[in-house]
Amino acid sequence: MNKALRKAVIAGNWKMNKTRPEAKELVEAIKPLVADAGCEVVACVPFTNLETVLEAVKGSNIKVGAENCHFEKSGAFTGEISADMLAEMGVEYVIIGHSERRQYFGETDETVNKRTRAALAAGLKVILCVGEMLADRENGITDELVAMQTKIALKGVSAEELKNVIIAYEPVWAIGTGKTATAEQANEVCAVIRATIEKLYGKEAADGITIQYGGSMNAKNAAELVAQPDVDGGLIGGASLKAPDFAAIVEAATRG
Ligand code: PGA
Repeated sequence: MNKALRKAVIAGNWKMNKTRPEAKELVEAIKPLVADAGCEVVACVPFTNLETVLEAVKGSNIKVGAENCHFEKSGAFTGEISADMLAEMGVEYVIIGHSERRQYFGETDETVNKRTRAALAAGLKVILCVGEMLADRENGITDELVAMQTKIALKGVSAEELKNVIIAYEPVWAIGTGKTATAEQANEVCAVIRATIEKLYGKEAADGITIQYGGSMNAKNAAELVAQPDVDGGLIGGASLKAPDFAAIVEAATRG
């Protein structure tokens, strides 16, 4: 597999953090620190911060993403946001199927698939999250589970649409816990995902797709993780809320 064929993407996932003034302050602090990045830089922010952050990143190399979207185009879905609403604002990316949505908000592989298709149809780029729970890893079913999540999420997604999909491998036991997968563990599962893509879409698609690692990636461990042959960047939670830490991860990905 040829790492040079694809671009590393470092995406911050701010989760449910930051008021609008705080969001502006954080993104303004990040901007100069990542201006020379050799990788794609994305800030995925709460819905309420999208407009503020979109305005703040104008003229910079930072792309903006949302953290979820609904699968219907419009209608009686109180509290939900559609992919078209995001696209119209100028939002470029959306995280789909984050493990926190799966764990706390009833997200299933089927709804992840529906949201993925809706987001792609609206012209958004999808950061599709997959990953095993600790019990799955202990039961030795990580590879099968992650392959299954990938397959179901991409059902009905064309090869052309796949070009707008990034997959984030996020072992649930590593998210927000300070426990990172070892670089070897991360690479192994990212390679399983790539092999799954190859089976579904062929070698060219597999070589071209960006596969990130996420789960307690930080300024210290990023370099080793992103240097792995099948790891093309990261989805960063906690460390994306500190400008110097996020910038250090971007720097690590720039060096490759
Ligand atoms: P973390 O979160 O970096 O805080 O572990 C990663 C994520 O949930 O995307």
